[in-house]
Amino acid sequence: MDRGQLQPLLLPDLKETGKELGRGAYGVVTEVIVSGTTCAAKKLHPAIIQGYTLKRFCDEVLLHSQQRHPNIVLLIGVYYPRRSKLPMLVMEYLPLSLTQCLEREELPLQMKYSILLDVAKGLCYLHGKRPPIVHRDLTANNVLLTSSYSAKISDLGVSRLADTFKMHELTTAPGNAMVMPPEALKDNPVYDHKLDVFSYGCLILHVLTGQFPQPTNQFVQEPGKEPFKRVPEWDRRSSYIKNIPKVNELLPLAKHCLSDAPSSRPEIVDSYHFVEQVLSKCPKMQNVMQLMKEKEAAKKHVCELNAENETLRAEKVEIEKQLRADRERLTAKVASLQNTLSLKENEFNYCTQVLREIIRSRDEQLVKLQEDNVELLKKREADLKEEHLTELAAMKEEYEAKLLAATIEHKQQLCESHRESEVRVSEVLKEPVKSSQALKDTAAQQQSTPLAIDG
Ligand SMILES: Nc1ncnc2c1ncn2[C@@H]1O[C@H](COP(=O)(O)OP(=O)(O)OP(=O)(O)O)[C@@H](O)[C@H]1O
Ligand SMILES: [Mg+2]
Repeated sequence: MDRGQLQPLLLPDLKETGKELGRGAYGVVTEVIVSGTTCAAKKLHPAIIQGYTLKRFCDEVLLHSQQRHPNIVLLIGVYYPRRSKLPMLVMEYLPLSLTQCLEREELPLQMKYSILLDVAKGLCYLHGKRPPIVHRDLTANNVLLTSSYSAKISDLGVSRLADTFKMHELTTAPGNAMVMPPEALKDNPVYDHKLDVFSYGCLILHVLTGQFPQPTNQFVQEPGKEPFKRVPEWDRRSSYIKNIPKVNELLPLAKHCLSDAPSSRPEIVDSYHFVEQVLSKCPKMQNVMQLMKEKEAAKKHVCELNAENETLRAEKVEIEKQLRADRERLTAKVASLQNTLSLKENEFNYCTQVLREIIRSRDEQLVKLQEDNVELLKKREADLKEEHLTELAAMKEEYEAKLLAATIEHKQQLCESHRESEVRVSEVLKEPVKSSQALKDTAAQQQSTPLAIDG
C-alpha cells in the first residue's frame, strides 16, 4: 500500500482500547483514543481492499476526509495497526446508530422528522458537490446519532469501495439491495445521485414505521400472462406503508422519493425543504428535546441502578457462597466439638463413678476408723481411769502415811512442850516474884507457837 498518499492523515497519538463497537458487512468497528478523545476505528475487510482497489481506497479515504459537515460523520484520520498493511479509518465517535435507536424506543414524531431533516441536510451537502458525491448505501445502519439525537451520515465512500470489489467479483448491485432503486439493480447499472433519494424514501418508511421496509419481489407473473410484470417500488413496500397513518405529512414525500423513474424523484434539496416545512408546523422541538434528554437520563439512571443491582447481586452470591462455606466449616467444627464433648462427658462420668467409689470406700474407712477410735478411746479412758485410780490410791496411801507420821511427830512435840511447860510451871511456882510475868510470857509463847504438821 502506498502509505505516502495517506501520510497527511496518519494519527500519531492513538491508543486501542480493545473494545468492539460493532460489526457490519464491510468490517469491524473498535474504540480508540486519539489524543485523549474517544473515537471509532473501522477496520475494513481485507477482501475489500486488495491490489486492484488499493489506489481507489486511498482516493476514497482522502475524499471522505475532505468532507466536513455537521451531518456527515467526520473522518479524523487513519492508523496502521501493528503488523498490518491496511489502515483503519478513524472517525468521530457517536453513541448509537439510527437502527439501534428505532429498535430500542418509539421516538416522538417531531424527533423522527428532525432526524430525517438532518439526513436530508447531509445528503444536500454531498449532492451539492461538483461532481455530486453519491453515498450509495444510505440505510438506518449508516445514520449515527449524537447523545442529543442529531443525525450524521456515516460510511461515506465505503460502499463505493465495496462496489469496486463487487464489480470485480461480477456482482453489480451497490450497497444494500433492499434500498436500491431499480436502475441500480440492473446488470450494467447506470445511476446518479437520485439513487440516494430513493434510499432516502426507504429511510422515511423505516423511521415512520420503526421497521426495515423489506420489499417484495421486483417482478411478478400474473396468472396466464407472459412475461413477468415489474411491481412498482411503492407497492413492493405496501405492507409497511399501510401501517403509517394516511394523514402523515411525510407520506407523500416518501412516495415521491420511491418513484420508479429517477427523473420523477425529487432533488434531495426539495425533500429537505419539504421536511423542514413539516417540522416547522410541529410543536416546538425544545420541549421534546428536553423530554428526550430526561428520558435518556432516566434510562441511564436505570442502567446504573441495574448495574448496581447486578453488582449487589454478585456480592450477595459471593456472600451466600461465603456463608455456605462458613456454615459448612462451623457445622464440621460443631460436630467435632460435640464429639469431643461426648468423649469428655464419658470421661467425666467415668471419673465421677470412680470418685464416688473412692468416697464411698473412704466413708466406710472413716466410719470404721471412728468406730475403732471410739473403741480405742473407751479403752484408753478405762486404762487412764485405772492408772489414775492406782496413782490416787498410792498418793492417798502416801499422804495418809505422811499424815500419820506428822500427827505422831506433832503429838511428840506437844508432849515435849507439855513436859517443858510443866517444868517451867514448877520453876515459876518456886520463884513467886517472877512468876506472874513469867507465866504471862510462857502463856503468850504457847499461844503464838503454831501447831506444825509436816507434809
Ligand atoms: N463512528 C462510530 N462511532 C461509534 N460507533 C460506530 C461508529 N461507526 C460504526 N459504529 C458501530 O459499529 C457498528 C458497525 O458499523 P458498520 O458501519 O461496520 O456496519 P453497519 O453500518 O452497522 O452495517 P452494514 O455495513 O452491514 O450496513 C454500527 O452498528 C455501530 O454500532
Ligand atoms: Mg456503517
